[in-house]
Amino acid sequence: MNKKKKRKLKKNIIVIFIILIITILIGGSYMLFSNKEKDNTIKDNHQDNITPDNNPLNEEQEVNNTLESAPKNNSEFQTLEDGEYLTEKGYTLTIKNGIAYIDNHLIVNKTYSLPEDYKPVNSYEEVTTDRCINCLEKEVMSAFKLMQADASSIGLNIYIASGYRSYNYQNTLYNNYSAVSGQVGADTYSARPGHSEHQTGLCFDLNSVDASFANTSEGIWINNNAHLYGFIIRYPQDKESITGYMYESWHLRYVGIDLASKLYNNGDWITLEEYYGLSSSY
Ligand code: DAL
Ligand code: ZN
Repeated sequence: MNKKKKRKLKKNIIVIFIILIITILIGGSYMLFSNKEKDNTIKDNHQDNITPDNNPLNEEQEVNNTLESAPKNNSEFQTLEDGEYLTEKGYTLTIKNGIAYIDNHLIVNKTYSLPEDYKPVNSYEEVTTDRCINCLEKEVMSAFKLMQADASSIGLNIYIASGYRSYNYQNTLYNNYSAVSGQVGADTYSARPGHSEHQTGLCFDLNSVDASFANTSEGIWINNNAHLYGFIIRYPQDKESITGYMYESWHLRYVGIDLASKLYNNGDWITLEEYYGLSSSY
């Protein structure tokens, strides 16, 4: 091989070597890039599968799957320590000082009770008596006044007939109803002491406080509009087996506009028990 041929061969080897290096670099970058894309697709699919609409679990709540289950009845609730528990729908139920909350919403039903001395935290009017129409939480009173004014502007008259009730007052009421209807009967329409939302300052009864209210212009308007002010019909029609109480068209509970609008469900009310996956039983 002469010198010229040798130089040509050397040049070819260098060129092939450079092409090889470039090919390796391009191939490597491509593999790295396509793996990143795959990672993103996996994350996106994961998020798609856990939207609150089809499954209330979010990433934080998935971690909480290790939590003990929420209680099934009041005696189980009474034996639980303060802490966090998992509801059947995957929400975290927090028990603090013996009081149950989910997402900062106070939960009171047949399973979840209040201590005897509980009263509204920041009431519009100070609690000095056993029953008091204006001793509701300030935020609740403001929302009610707004709703009342809007109803009035279209000729409707809504007013609070029963607001805050103390543990003792509820005890007297429940005993009186039990004397008339027996305990089983009374349990379908009256809460036992400690189990009434009226002790929270977050609810009230409107107008006639009886079944006739549902078919009045006021009752119909309330059913269709209360959610716009943050109120829910707490004991809807045909949900007695879930809430533990017969239909009360007049009993409104404040939960804020966000949650109330979800529970309104175009007039087919969802209960707090269904939404959060909670029991209501003694
Ligand atoms: N009537 C409702 C259930 C109460 O007594 O609180
Ligand atoms: Zn009531």
